[in-house]
Order: sequence, then structure tokens, then C-alpha cells
Amino acid sequence: MNPNLAKLHSYPFEKLAKLKQYCTPPAGKQHIALSIGEPSHPIPSLITEAIIENLHGLSDYPTIAGTQELCKFIADWLDQRFRLSGNIYGKSQVIPVNGTREAIFAFAQAVIDHKQQTPLVLMQNPFYQIYEGAAILAGAEPYFLNCNAENNFIPKFNEVKAKIWDRCQLLYLCSPGNPTGAVINTEVLATLIELAHKHNFIIASDECYSEIYFDDKYRPVGLLQAAIYAGYKTLSRCIVFHSLSKRSNAPGLRSGFVAGDSKIMKQFLRYRTYHGCAMAPTTQLASIAAWRDETHVTTNRILYQEKFAAVLKLLSPVINVKQPNAGFYLWAETPIPDTTFTKKLFAEQNVTVLPGSYLARDTNNGNPGSNRIRIALVAPLDKCIDAAHRIRACISTLDN
Ligand SMILES: Cc1ncc(COP(=O)(O)O)c(C=O)c1O
Repeated sequence: MNPNLAKLHSYPFEKLAKLKQYCTPPAGKQHIALSIGEPSHPIPSLITEAIIENLHGLSDYPTIAGTQELCKFIADWLDQRFRLSGNIYGKSQVIPVNGTREAIFAFAQAVIDHKQQTPLVLMQNPFYQIYEGAAILAGAEPYFLNCNAENNFIPKFNEVKAKIWDRCQLLYLCSPGNPTGAVINTEVLATLIELAHKHNFIIASDECYSEIYFDDKYRPVGLLQAAIYAGYKTLSRCIVFHSLSKRSNAPGLRSGFVAGDSKIMKQFLRYRTYHGCAMAPTTQLASIAAWRDETHVTTNRILYQEKFAAVLKLLSPVINVKQPNAGFYLWAETPIPDTTFTKKLFAEQNVTVLPGSYLARDTNNGNPGSNRIRIALVAPLDKCIDAAHRIRACISTLDN
């Protein structure tokens, strides 16, 4: 077997299942799951209609590169959303993928060069665990950049030593961040792009929460936008990942895309010719319907805004929790260790959240997830409010 498989950490939800296994929550209270980041607002009918209308497309083999039509719609969406001034071409700079999870993983396998001294893959800590697994199975070493309240959940990139940047081959960014909701601004992104050119690494920016924000005036910026701002019209060394899962409440559709630097995309397409799985023609057509419509995305945002307002009103007087810049998670501080709190909340209130320490790694400066929980506001509004009341009830027993 590949020895690197043994280095993989168990997934946060495996650890959560173990943590809860001997608890018996009160039978009278219905379970509310705020642990998994699975959107549960209704899937827009324009997507389901497009699937039904195009089911006959399943009789054709799709190509890994995707149809020109889909790639063009995606490029147009990127151009408009991130003001790329026409500097993105569907044909050479976009590849549709069956959800970004597999593509984020596959990307490291395609770009890491094993011949060098053990390469580093840098990532925020806490992080989406696929980055770490991708780095390990690509034969690289994950290198963690802590995000905590002191740095407003954005790593102090300027404190990373030159010798670390020299060994870095890939930097995974997650902005808006899962679980922190922090958004990296244009200036920081531009500095990172400069560093990528100076130290010869690639930036892979996971932007799958970019459309879940709270104020039109503060729409999250993206890496490609920063590349144009910094004068890199060819988007060199910059790759982004976007998904319909969160934007369009369609996690089951398995549709997203990878876009950016054409030289890197050419090599990634080559890799995917062997390892990638082409997107079904029906899914491609449903994805066009989704990317070309913004109305359902606005409606979706309003639903999240309502939930954040209602839940924060209940929780902020009792725990340290703030409205994030974007995304659908609350990254709340716990008055007792995060795992103890999570277990107690489940045992007493039948509400499941995710311990922050399961989403982060121990470092010399501690585990930036400890004493935090991730609360995913994915359930309907009334359930989120009910859960907030139950979290309050759980906290109130701690004061005694
Ligand atoms: C940060 C982040 N990136 C990527 C993904 C993968 O999304 P999908 O594969 O549905 O596109 C998720 C899913 O939860 C996520 O939280």
C-alpha cells in the first residue's frame, strides 16, 4: 500500500461520531444538526428543470474539458463577478469538475514535484481537511499557518520565513474561510501573488463560499481579481476553485470548476485525462442554467442573512461569537473545552456542532481550533433559532 495513506488523519466527522457514541440525548427533543456544511435551502427549480429537460444528454460521452458553452458561461461569470476585464478565456482557462472537493485534491497530485527536498504545501489552520490529505498523498508536507482572533483569522503571511516560501510548491487559500468566515483582502492577495512569483509556487484559492455574504458593499474579492489588480493579466500562478454546492444549494449536483493560469490549466487537463471524471452532459447543462442566474443566489443570501441575525441576537449575549465576513458558519468560542462542550450540548439538548479542534492541528503555538465550535447555519430558520435557544440553555447550566 501507499505508505502515505497511514499518515492521513481521520476525518472530523469520524471523530465527532466517536465523541457522541455513548451519549443518549433526550428523546423529547428533535435532533438539530449544525455540524455538516451541507446547504439545505431548496435547490432552485431552474436547476432541476434543466436536468429533466436534458436527460437525453446522458447518451453521449462527455469530455474532460467540458463543453465550450459551459466553459464560456463560467468565464463570463468570473469576468463579471470579479471584474477581470475580459482576461479569462473559457477554452484555455476553465475546467468544469464534479464538485470542487475532488479537484482540490487532484490539483496537488498534478502540480507537486517530488524530486525536490520534501516540498511544502502551505495552508491556513483551521482548514478544510482535503488540503492536508491532498498534500500528504502528493508526497508533500503540510505546513500550517495559524488563524486566530489576534490576527483576525488571516495568517500573518509576512512572518513566514523566506526558506519556507522557498520550499513551498503550493499554497492553498480558503477565502471566505471555512470555518472562520474571514475574507482575505486584495492587498494581501496581491502580496501573496508577488511571493508566488519570487519563490516559484502556485496559489490554489478555494472560493466556494464567495457568494454567501451579508452586504453587497463587502462582496468577497477573489484571487483572479487580485491578480488583475497586481498587473498579472495572464493570471500566472493563480488558480481558483468555485462550486455550485453552496452558491446554488446544489451539493448533490456535484458541479464546480477550476480556473486560472492557462499553462497550469493545460497540465491539469493532461492530468485529468487520466484521472479526472468528465461531468455528465446533463449536469453541464444544468450548471449553465445555474451560473447564468443570480436571482436565486440573492434569495439564498437573504435566507442566510435572516438566520445570522436571529441566531446572533440569541447567542452573542452569552458567548463570544461574531458575524463572519462571509460563509454560513459561526466560529464561536466555548467557555469549556470544545469537545466537552460539543458532547454536553448533544447529550443534553440533542444539537450537534463540530469541535473546532477537529478542524485544526496542534502547532508550537497551540491548536487554533481549541475552545471553538463550528456552527453551520444550514438548517431552516426556525430550527436554527431553536438550536440557539438550546445552546443558551446548555451554557446556562455552566454558570451554576
Ligand atoms: C472549504 C470547502 N471547499 C470545498 C468544499 C467542497 O465543495 P464541493 O465538492 O461540494 O464543491 C467544501 C465543502 O464543504 C468546503 O467547505
